[in-house]
Amino acid sequence: MDHGYGSLLEGVKTMLSRTLGTDEKMQDLCGYLRRTVPHYDWVGFYMVEGDELVLGPFSGAPTEHTRIPVGTGICGQAAETQKTFVVPDVSAVGNYLACSLDVRSEIVVPIFKDGAVVGELDIDSHSPDAFDHSDREFLEEICEHVAELL
Ligand code: SME
Repeated sequence: MDHGYGSLLEGVKTMLSRTLGTDEKMQDLCGYLRRTVPHYDWVGFYMVEGDELVLGPFSGAPTEHTRIPVGTGICGQAAETQKTFVVPDVSAVGNYLACSLDVRSEIVVPIFKDGAVVGELDIDSHSPDAFDHSDREFLEEICEHVAELL
């Protein structure tokens, strides 16, 4: 599956190079991804603060999970293990924090700065098994560009 991410990546790079503050760029990026990729239903950043992940800019329904301990939930596991997590079926995962009953699958991509995880990009989908290798590569590249802003 290829979702035409090459041209979207160019749009992302242009967006991130504009003269805006970092939070505004991250906010714009969340909205852009959610608007342009049909299976991205919630797009948001969590930033590492001490041993917690704190919700940053996001686009989608409000979530009660505004602070997540590192190690808890899919987000917390991605931060702890420093690995991208792709979850095709969230109902099959024990350590999952539900934001909405509509969410069926999720991808969480860590953002690295000087070798440490400083945040992550979290995307939920209302479709099962929505994320494949092309999403992973696209989002990992985006996170490299976001890291340069931090
Ligand atoms: N599902 C995540 C929590 C964050 S919400 O998806 C926005 C998790 O299990 O860590």
